[in-house]
Amino acid sequence: MARPLALIVDDEPDIRELLAITLQRMDIDTRACGDIGAAKAQLRGRGFQLCLTDMRLPDGDGLDLVDWMQAQGIRTPVAVITAHGNVETAVRALKSGAFDFISKPLDLANLRKLIANALRLPANDAQPASRVRLLGESPAIQRLREMIARVARSQAPVHITGESGTGKELVARMIHDLGARAEGSFVPVNCGAIPSELMESEFFGHRRGSFTGAVGDKPGLFQSAEGGTLFLDEIAELPLPMQVKLLRVIQEKTVRPIGDTQELPVDVRILSATHKDLRALVATGQFREDLFYRINVIELRVPPLRERAGDVALLARHILERQSREHGTGVPELGPAAIAKLSGYAFPGNVRELENILERAMALSAGGRIEAEDIQTQSPVERGPGPVDEASALGEQLQSVQREAIQKALEANRYNKTAAARQLGLTLRALRYRMQKLGME
Ligand SMILES: Nc1ncnc2c1ncn2[C@@H]1O[C@H](COP(=O)(O)OP(=O)(O)OP(=O)(O)O)[C@@H](O)[C@H]1O
Ligand SMILES: [Mg+2]
Repeated sequence: MARPLALIVDDEPDIRELLAITLQRMDIDTRACGDIGAAKAQLRGRGFQLCLTDMRLPDGDGLDLVDWMQAQGIRTPVAVITAHGNVETAVRALKSGAFDFISKPLDLANLRKLIANALRLPANDAQPASRVRLLGESPAIQRLREMIARVARSQAPVHITGESGTGKELVARMIHDLGARAEGSFVPVNCGAIPSELMESEFFGHRRGSFTGAVGDKPGLFQSAEGGTLFLDEIAELPLPMQVKLLRVIQEKTVRPIGDTQELPVDVRILSATHKDLRALVATGQFREDLFYRINVIELRVPPLRERAGDVALLARHILERQSREHGTGVPELGPAAIAKLSGYAFPGNVRELENILERAMALSAGGRIEAEDIQTQSPVERGPGPVDEASALGEQLQSVQREAIQKALEANRYNKTAAARQLGLTLRALRYRMQKLGME
């Protein structure tokens, strides 16, 4: 196999040499240049597996080079070398699409880890596989899948927002699976589930005898995630003192177990999620702004299921297949009226609620077919005020046809009711009335 090739961009000969020696010891060939103009000329050849660039260069700054590479579609991972403690530049670089950053003075152990991570990225044209799949063909989900694939290639902290049950953890797992750390562990932590007095020990570990009950050395979650990903779920629940400690660990990339005299280096990518509005918590002082800024370098929003009603049928079929596999039974069919009923429902509990509804429907259904009456939704949103009188099969069928038509028109018109009504040949008032009768509001 050919040796990988790296480009070093720095105007200081000493640093160029230090980087070249480090890379060569890792069996990587290098080219070096001292300014952005020369770097662009080299990168146009597209033969590089890695690029390391200084920030301040004679003809511009490293961020310009990162931006230019993104614009040219050059997917070579690029890491920027920042001045010590310059968090702001590091964050800007990551937002622009840099793979990672490293600060001066260069720590060679960290540098080697960064390089190894970059070379572990799947090749540009390879289709990396994830163990989990985010299903859906709606534009919002397609966009989300593209963004996941993009952010998976970097080391940037990603904050995932979205209502309960929308798939935030699934997104975090995909980012891990599709990136350079796929071979490492994915460690999910529910920040709301750890009692605050145990938190420090859970996160950073402890030494034997450091407190009553510490009968042995215990590694923390950061050490368990070494070389992999730590997923801080429900991060809004972290108490303020813990937020301070977490910020330090993220900035310094070291942890100190309780009772230890030494800091241990850690190489962990941080992903986080919450269904709460972190910005609002920052505004009221319940969440530290500096930590928010650090974990929220890239924000991904997972849309609620009602914003992708067109995906409900597809999701339902996959969920039924999975549940049948788990129960060792045949896959039930989903009748058109059942699909229409699901497609018109608002799903306050999102995909998880859909899973629960289908689990119950499978238990209720007879003869391997799920009908509308097997679909029991929690809240009364799917039925308008007053009972719907037609209990006859024909009535049900007519309703489901209507619901489907309205749903399609709404989707085609981005939920603009006026436009949807026009498409259906109805007045806006008539559409509203119909939707209310069908329980679609
Ligand atoms: N697009 C999707 N395709 C397939 N399965 C999905 C999709 N979205 C969510 N799921 C499934 O729905 C369930 C809930 O997803 P997940 O646990 O990731 O949600 P969450 O946003 O983390 O919820 P919470 O806020 O309640 O923790 C999981 O079983 C997940 O596999
Ligand atoms: Mg979750």
